[in-house]
Amino acid sequence: MRTYTSCTALRTALADCRRQGQSIAFVPTMGNLHEGHLDLVRRARALCDVVVVSIFVNPLQFGANEDLDAYPRTMAADKEKLFSEGVQALYAPTVEEIYPEGMHKHTQVQVPDLSETLCGSSRPGHFNGVTTIVNKLFNMVQPDVAVFGEKDFQQLSIVRKMVQDLCMPIHIEGVATARDEDGLAKSSRNGYLTAEQRRIAPVIHATLTGCREAIACGFDNFLQLESHARMQLLQAGFEPDYFAIRDARTLRAVDENTEEIAILAAARLGKTRLIDNVRLAVN
Ligand code: PAJ
Repeated sequence: MRTYTSCTALRTALADCRRQGQSIAFVPTMGNLHEGHLDLVRRARALCDVVVVSIFVNPLQFGANEDLDAYPRTMAADKEKLFSEGVQALYAPTVEEIYPEGMHKHTQVQVPDLSETLCGSSRPGHFNGVTTIVNKLFNMVQPDVAVFGEKDFQQLSIVRKMVQDLCMPIHIEGVATARDEDGLAKSSRNGYLTAEQRRIAPVIHATLTGCREAIACGFDNFLQLESHARMQLLQAGFEPDYFAIRDARTLRAVDENTEEIAILAAARLGKTRLIDNVRLAVN
């Protein structure tokens, strides 16, 4: 595995691969890699000849009071994991390489509507930061396939919309959420949890699956289900940000055209913000 910090060197190497007729899969990350990230890498390997992973903690997607400085940076351990998974190229640029004139002077890419709801309303500007860096990384790597996790379901939907709207010739592949045995979605932010918070954390997934079961059994008062779930989260010790039953395609309210429902939640445990989601087909 080779590590690149400059886009020029990465491009030269990838141009060679393309000349040899090799297909390229790309997995963008912010590092501190866990099994969830490695599932994406394994899917990427199954789909293409060459796998490129990026590790870049993107300041543009963090709000002023968020955990940019505290975000775990574990480059040496990450490199070992990627090497063991057979990744050919790691792109790990500096902030200066990505935003040479400072991030606020940089062109931004914005996906309207989808970016403004759910996590977008509690983290203003967050998804513009995501779509800007993902767009830029896509232009650098020019992959055939890019792999994203369903854990960040809204992010996945927004990236799909961006690729469609901007006619980018990239297949976006979604991968199911990797979980600990008790249901907690694996996340770099789980490392912030105290032992007591870690014991409470799986309630978020239990609440989502409980709601999914109620809908599957025919319960259709969604407002009541949402407020009941928020109450369950509060009682367990969370500060719920949202608990929402939405159309999985539009992320708007469920209506007669809905084919699949997404139930999405974000809640704070102490200072740590956790998100998760589950889905269910409408029959
Ligand atoms: P990061 O949080 O590092 O996640 C990188 C990728 O791993 C995302 O596609 C995310 O959905 C996926 N992922 C994280 N936890 C997962 C889990 N438990 N199961 C399956 N997939 C999981 O998401 C970002 O970074 C950034 O916003 C990024 C897209 C890299 C842009 O900066």
